[in-house]
Amino acid sequence: PAAGDLAGRLVVVSAGGTREPLDPVRFLGNRSSGRQGVAIAAAAARRGARVVLVAANVDKALLPDAPAIEVREVETTAQLRDAVRAAATRADVVVMAAAVADFRPATSAAHKIKKTAAGPAPIELVKNPDILAELAAERLRPGQVVVGFAAETGDSEGDVLEHGRAKARRKGADLLAVNEVGSAVGFGDVPNSVTVLDAAGEVLASAEGSKAVVADALLDAVADRLRMATTI
Ligand code: PMT
Repeated sequence: PAAGDLAGRLVVVSAGGTREPLDPVRFLGNRSSGRQGVAIAAAAARRGARVVLVAANVDKALLPDAPAIEVREVETTAQLRDAVRAAATRADVVVMAAAVADFRPATSAAHKIKKTAAGPAPIELVKNPDILAELAAERLRPGQVVVGFAAETGDSEGDVLEHGRAKARRKGADLLAVNEVGSAVGFGDVPNSVTVLDAAGEVLASAEGSKAVVADALLDAVADRLRMATTI
């Protein structure tokens, strides 16, 4: 990566997985550790950016401690949305690496839900807002580069890419990193593999290896976008 190619830029990165409470002790969540988002925040800071890292339920030991990175910890999708949107009004780049819950329980019980003889009560779910699609549609700051991830599984690499292409066209982000997820890749303390698409679903780059390697490949595509915008 080009040293300092993000100097003077503000980059907002979301990382981790949102949790939606069912009661004071239980939640609906996912397996995101936050490692990929943290790696993007660290790489952006190394390349000269100021970074706001919105961290959803990321282990404290993984959170970066660097003067250029401001960490805002959140738990639920609603909190993540508020924190990302607040920071995005000034940002040159927003990267949504967090795994966001698509649904949340319609209500969260004030006290621990009891076991009843009748068996478990059904959990009613309501849809969460799509933060990435909103950011892409609203452009909270003109000229901002909006980047999403697409965590996909499939029977083949072709399947994964096709799902990603459909998502790229649907979400309207400038860049979408299609992330193959499975037992040995994607979520957690494992390597990663992504294909970076533009909004039309065309392949711009691909990267495989550590989450740091993937972060730099993605930021190369982001830096290209920023250069294109300033030379036009
Ligand atoms: O955290 P790690 O353990 O390191 O794992 C990294 C990762 C696999 C979680 C990460 O690289 C990744 O792929 N993140 C996106 C996971 C995800 O939620 O993908 P999705 O296909 O469900 O969502 C697509 C995009 O829309 C994502 O950018 C997501 O942040 C965003 N989204 C989704 C739902 C929603 N309600 N709002 C959103 O903004």
